[in-house]
Amino acid sequence: MPEQKFEFSYDVYDSIEELNSEDAWLLNEAKEVTQDAYAPYSNFRVGAVAKLSNGEIVAGTNQENASFPAGLCAERVLLASVSSIYPNTAIESIAISYQSNGGSSNHPISPCGVCRQTLQEFEQRTNRPIRLILGGMEGKIFIINKSGFLLPLAFTSEELR
Ligand code: THU
Repeated sequence: MPEQKFEFSYDVYDSIEELNSEDAWLLNEAKEVTQDAYAPYSNFRVGAVAKLSNGEIVAGTNQENASFPAGLCAERVLLASVSSIYPNTAIESIAISYQSNGGSSNHPISPCGVCRQTLQEFEQRTNRPIRLILGGMEGKIFIINKSGFLLPLAFTSEELR
């Protein structure tokens, strides 16, 4: 029986001081925009900031609602904003950070399953891998060179042709 294997590598940095200046700047922006999140229910504020292929910077934050399923993650708010403001523009990198009022914010978080699906399709349709820079308010930072690595065997638009 043939066996298939999926694996990927990512970079781990001990602190933001180890990043190049552009990545450090983007991550600091992501930390800053966590303050714009509307997260009165979870008290978990997420900030996502993208550097686009045209050089522009776009930010997104999580936006919750008293009807919980109506809430949106920062990553999908960001992707919808990018598509609306700069249609058909690829994303080079996204920095994602968070501020948890209840707990610590000292390690990277990575996108939820629905956001992984949305990131994968964004990558596919713009034909460019999205680098993810993941870090909390302090602590280690992960850099993943392609968000699609986080969703092996994805269901894609190819199936609907
Ligand atoms: N959240 C995000 O915005 N991004 C993630 O990657 C994980 C979770 C939000 C959704 C909700 O508003 C809050 O964080 C707690 O789950």
